[in-house]
Formats: sequence, structure tokens, C-alpha cells
Amino acid sequence: MENYLFDFHGVSKDILNDLNFTIKKNEKIILFGPSGAGKSSALFLFNRLRDPDSGKIYYKGEPIQSCEISQLRKNIGLVLQAPNLFPGTVLDNLKYGPSLFDEWEDSRAEELMDLIQLPENYLHRDVDQLSGGEQQRVSLGRTLANKPEVLLLDEPTSALDVRTSEEIEGVLEKLIEVHQLTMVMVTHNLRQAKRLGERGIFMKEGKIVEDGNISRLLMEPESKALQEFLQD
Ligand SMILES: Nc1ncnc2c1ncn2[C@@H]1O[C@H](COP(=O)(O)OP(=O)(O)O)[C@@H](O)[C@H]1O
Ligand SMILES: [Mg+2]
Repeated sequence: MENYLFDFHGVSKDILNDLNFTIKKNEKIILFGPSGAGKSSALFLFNRLRDPDSGKIYYKGEPIQSCEISQLRKNIGLVLQAPNLFPGTVLDNLKYGPSLFDEWEDSRAEELMDLIQLPENYLHRDVDQLSGGEQQRVSLGRTLANKPEVLLLDEPTSALDVRTSEEIEGVLEKLIEVHQLTMVMVTHNLRQAKRLGERGIFMKEGKIVEDGNISRLLMEPESKALQEFLQD
């Protein structure tokens, strides 16, 4: 089974049609393609928010269905486009995940605030009072509090203005480097894709059309589908 973190074999689910790929530890993957291509649907297979209709997914050599789901979601963190925080303070949100496993220590708050680059005096602020960019940092912090090994990102900056989006990108860039995370990120922002990604997977109509080095895909698209996508 090699040392693959993920191994997809002929995976189909609704629109998703015969997905075949492997992902190694530390890969930085950009999943991109037109709206409705199935990017979010594909991303949700990685932490079992959805399960395939047919085909097999292996996580670290084990069928993903046999992994304990709360442990799986702890190891494989997901951040969505819109921050989905719980009512309460920043600290309440950060400690939520680790508390489920009885693993929270107050000393971690400082480290997490440093990771997401928010001042420590924000810990006791109500999340309702934060800006969209700040809330997205807290969403990221809440996911990181679980010490995931894989970070799934579904258009994490597309709801933010350019400046805030670039700030979050900076946070992600540093984090991925320092913590050696494996990343699968959906983004429409091709500049962001080049900055944060190494490998690109281009999808259209539920299928993988091209898979390779992200810069090469963007500079020398082989398929008509990707050429057309890049022209828009
Ligand atoms: N549960 C579902 N059952 C059937 N079709 C779905 C379901 N969820 C999404 N779809 C459809 O699958 C397609 C892919 O959706 P999605 O994964 O959200 O695409 P993307 O993230 O690339 O924009 C869309 O056409 C959507 O309407
Ligand atoms: Mg989507």
C-alpha cells in the first residue's frame, strides 16, 4: 500500500465519477475547476462528511470506513468558506474540539493565537463582535486546536476582501511550513493557488481532468477544458 496518506480507487458519488489518485504526507494540493465541478463533494470524502457510492478510499492503508469517525475528523480538519463558529468567546471556540478528547490545556491558547495571528486579549471577546477576517482566523484556530495532520480548505478566503484574504494566506503559508501539514485546498484564486500549492488537481463535471505540478498546469494546460477554464 506504499506510504500514501490517501488512496482513492475508482470513487464515485453523485456527480463524482471514477476518482483515482493518491496523496502523500506533506503534499500541498489545490483542487480547482468550474463551479459545480464537484470540488466540495470531493473534499467531503476525505473526512467522511460523505461516503462513496462505489469505489474505495484508504487512509494510511486502512479502509476509511473502518476509521473511528471522531478521531478521523480530529486528524483531518476542515475549514469552510464561511466561518461557522459556536456562540461564545474565542477561547470557547478554540477549546471546544480538544475538550471532547479531554486534551485541552489553557497554555495552548497563547500558542494558537500566535498561529492565527490574533492578539491574546481577543481570547475573551465574543465571536459575534469580530470582523469576517477575524472570525475566519478563529475558524482556522479551532481546527488547528485539534492538531490535525491534514487540512482541508474549501474556498477559505473567497468571502473576504483582498487584503484580509492575503493576510489569511500568510497565516496558512507559515502554518503549513512550520507544522508540516498535508493540505487539500479548493480555491478559485489562481495567485493563491501558486503561492500555497505544489500540486494541482483540475476537475470538471465530476471528473479529474488534469493532475500535476500546479505551475505547469496553469502555464501549460494540456486539456481543452483547462485551457478554456483559464481563459475565463
Ligand atoms: N447530495 C447531492 N446529491 C446530488 N447532487 C448533488 C449533491 N450535492 C451537490 N450536488 C451537485 O453536485 C454538483 C457538484 O457540487 P459541488 O461539489 O458543490 O461543486 P463545486 O464545489 O465544484 O462547486 C453540483 O451540480 C451540485 O448541484
Ligand atoms: Mg464548492
